Amino acid sequence: MKVAVIGSGYVGLTLVCLAKFGHKITIVDKIQSRVDIINNGISPIYEPGLEEILKENVKTGMVKATIDYTEIEDSDVVFVCVGTPSKEDGSIDLSQIETASRQIGQHLGKSKNYQVVVVKSTVVPKTTIKTVLPILEESSGLKAGVDFGVAMTPEFLREGSGVYDFINPDKIVIGTSDKKSLSILSQLYESFDSKIPRIYTDQTTAEMIKYAQNSMLASRISFMNEIANICEKFNVDVSEVAYAIGLDSRIGPKFLNAGIGFGGSCFPKDVKALIAASKSVGVKPNLLESIISVNENQPHRLIEIAKRTLGDLKNKKIAVLGLAFKSDTDDMRESRAIPVIETLLKEGSIVSVYDPKAMENAKKIFEGNILYSASKEDCVKNVDACMVLTEWKEFRDLELSSMKCPVIEGRRVMDPNKVIEAGLNYKSIGWKYN
Ligand code: UGA
Repeated sequence: MKVAVIGSGYVGLTLVCLAKFGHKITIVDKIQSRVDIINNGISPIYEPGLEEILKENVKTGMVKATIDYTEIEDSDVVFVCVGTPSKEDGSIDLSQIETASRQIGQHLGKSKNYQVVVVKSTVVPKTTIKTVLPILEESSGLKAGVDFGVAMTPEFLREGSGVYDFINPDKIVIGTSDKKSLSILSQLYESFDSKIPRIYTDQTTAEMIKYAQNSMLASRISFMNEIANICEKFNVDVSEVAYAIGLDSRIGPKFLNAGIGFGGSCFPKDVKALIAASKSVGVKPNLLESIISVNENQPHRLIEIAKRTLGDLKNKKIAVLGLAFKSDTDDMRESRAIPVIETLLKEGSIVSVYDPKAMENAKKIFEGNILYSASKEDCVKNVDACMVLTEWKEFRDLELSSMKCPVIEGRRVMDPNKVIEAGLNYKSIGWKYN
């Protein structure tokens, strides 16, 4: 099939994996420099495995990028993957969705095939049928469900394992209300493992599934963070509690790691958007609001632990290991490292930082106020404390013998026993000896 993708962010770019199944991909982005980078087989974002797929498929002509919407005219499916950033009140800004829909509409109907426009951006319930569909009809002069199809297929991939997640999803959700669209999209996803459950539903339910899932995952994290804060007061190690409750098959082990909370471009934004959507229909979202408030407090909990360990933080040299919002990405959007570092700087600490991938992005945020170290070893040299803020595996084998300072863990990456055996003071959120 011929597939057009509007927007080359994480979700849009990962759709190039469809080329592996023999589909031809045209990516449309408004930024010429980004288009040029993609056409050179280079990924504009760091995502393990993505660049290899891009390189191979650009070379064979299966993937190309353009700024020209006329190139979508012969596509069978058009995916909308543009950004839906948060507004001040937490609701999402639909301006990119509206612009993309208008431009797609102007190029619909030139193909003799029935074309399906599929929203893949995360949008609140009803956006596809109340915003996208009318704009498409108005700008094309055509009728949805008769001349073209409108669908919503949420994406569940995680940054850092986007390629794997895209090819091996736990489920495929296809939300549409016309049979032709359903048949075309079923065909598009036919090459995926037949054991992957397919959920055929309407657009609004598909939109809601995405928000409910992300909010549920975020709620597990905030729940465990609250439990961790209580554990500390009772001299209980939260990781033992998390392990034990995770063995209950009704709970399961994933997303129970307590620490400085969740960041990234999805959980904070999506929970806030669902809060705003919920209020707009007169439902008070008590639990959703608590997920955010627990999350916003966690970075300050780590600062409290640092103060208890070091006393006044003024002029203390603090090494920060990890800047990205999680491991295997250079993305710092909503990273919990930002409030931690900002507070340290406000307290007058001297901060050195190291991250395997996110150093360049950090420079755009903190400019010259912090010291950028060339390695994790350099970062922790001659400091008063070392804080771990991202769950990079490589922090597990930090050379402890040359260190003298306390380790204050925000992510539970390092083995507490090893740190203690090396004679160092170990502290962590939800740790029983804080
Ligand atoms: C999340 C979801 O996991 C994806 O399924 C979804 O598709 C994506 O949002 C999206 O909506 O686009 P992502 O933001 O890439 O994916 O990252 P996660 O792996 O979910 O981690 C989010 C944050 O939670 C990170 O800051 C991580 O450190 C934190 N986290 C995760 C915890 O604090 N504890 C945990 O147990 C797990």
